[in-house]
Amino acid sequence: MFMCFEIMKALVLSGGKGTRLRPLTFTTAKQLIPIANKPILGYVLDRISEAGIKEVGVVIAPETGADVKRYVGDGSDWGLRVSYIVQEPLGLAHAVKVSRGFLGNDDFLMHLGDNLLKKNLGELIDKFESEKPDALILLKEVEDPTKFGVVVLDNKGNVVKLVEKPKQPPSKLGLVGVYLFSNKIHSAIDEIKPSWRGELEITDAIQKLVDKGCFVKAEILDSWWLDTGKKDDVLAANALVLDEYIQRDVKGEAIGSTIEGRVSVGSGTKIIGSVVRGPCVIGKKCIIENSFIGPYTSVGDECLIKNSSINYSIIMERTIIEGVETLEECLIGRNCRIRSEDRSKTFKLCVGDYSEVKI
Ligand code: G1P
Repeated sequence: MFMCFEIMKALVLSGGKGTRLRPLTFTTAKQLIPIANKPILGYVLDRISEAGIKEVGVVIAPETGADVKRYVGDGSDWGLRVSYIVQEPLGLAHAVKVSRGFLGNDDFLMHLGDNLLKKNLGELIDKFESEKPDALILLKEVEDPTKFGVVVLDNKGNVVKLVEKPKQPPSKLGLVGVYLFSNKIHSAIDEIKPSWRGELEITDAIQKLVDKGCFVKAEILDSWWLDTGKKDDVLAANALVLDEYIQRDVKGEAIGSTIEGRVSVGSGTKIIGSVVRGPCVIGKKCIIENSFIGPYTSVGDECLIKNSSINYSIIMERTIIEGVETLEECLIGRNCRIRSEDRSKTFKLCVGDYSEVKI
């Protein structure tokens, strides 16, 4: 059905500084933050592969690129051929500019490595191939448009104006981080100047296409879209993915414990005298003892959780949590140690890798 797939390339943007996710992004790329125990970038590559694309350029930052490379490798786990392009964080349009060698004059799909959407990319590519616009952009009504690229459509649905993170938004339609472009985007990028934040904005390049009379097509998304830029977004993405995809699959050992609902437990994990309530995922080789692991929680491999209660949180690999009455809405990095002697409080934490917290 989708006949021209083979020729389309994808550009996946996995650079950037991830300032809104510090301190975690001091030690890891934001695209590698796990959602239901799998890096966000993994879901992006799943979707690209499902759409039939084979050739992918992954744009990486000098600081975190090695971690991204370690995870993605040559792309063969996804059936993809991956090339890497190193970029200083100077904007999304700048990422396209430095990828020109990889892209050549081909049409391409650009996907931000921290965006997840339910939409089938194959359908979008099919639409792009048959209608042949110079840009196909996706829009979704957002609560706070000041945080996104914002688009104004006329009453026929034509794109009139695009503006990046406006203080006074002219509409509520946010730009989703998935775009399809013809090679005309390159000359548009050559004509734009850095924005107030010193970046070459893809939003400005698309505006340039509109100004030049090119065919820019917009589609309003009717399914979910997640932009995992901040802690709350990451936790919301975790809850949604757990809700949509987790099936009951208990491989570990439950001793004197109750495991309720859609819970996935990895092999080698022991759950002792505890209650685990889904949707929730617990990785391999963990020990959960005398604890409550509540809904919408992901616990990475090799964690130890003892005498604690955790809800609506992400706990990454090899972290130890002991004696904490209630942790909720927490994003806790790898190799942390969180201990408490005050068993009467609820804590909402965002903790970077290798931290130690005593409460
Ligand atoms: C970028 C784009 C913005 C878009 C958003 C989607 O913003 O500049 O237009 O709406 O991604 O996630 P950033 O995440 O770089 O601030």
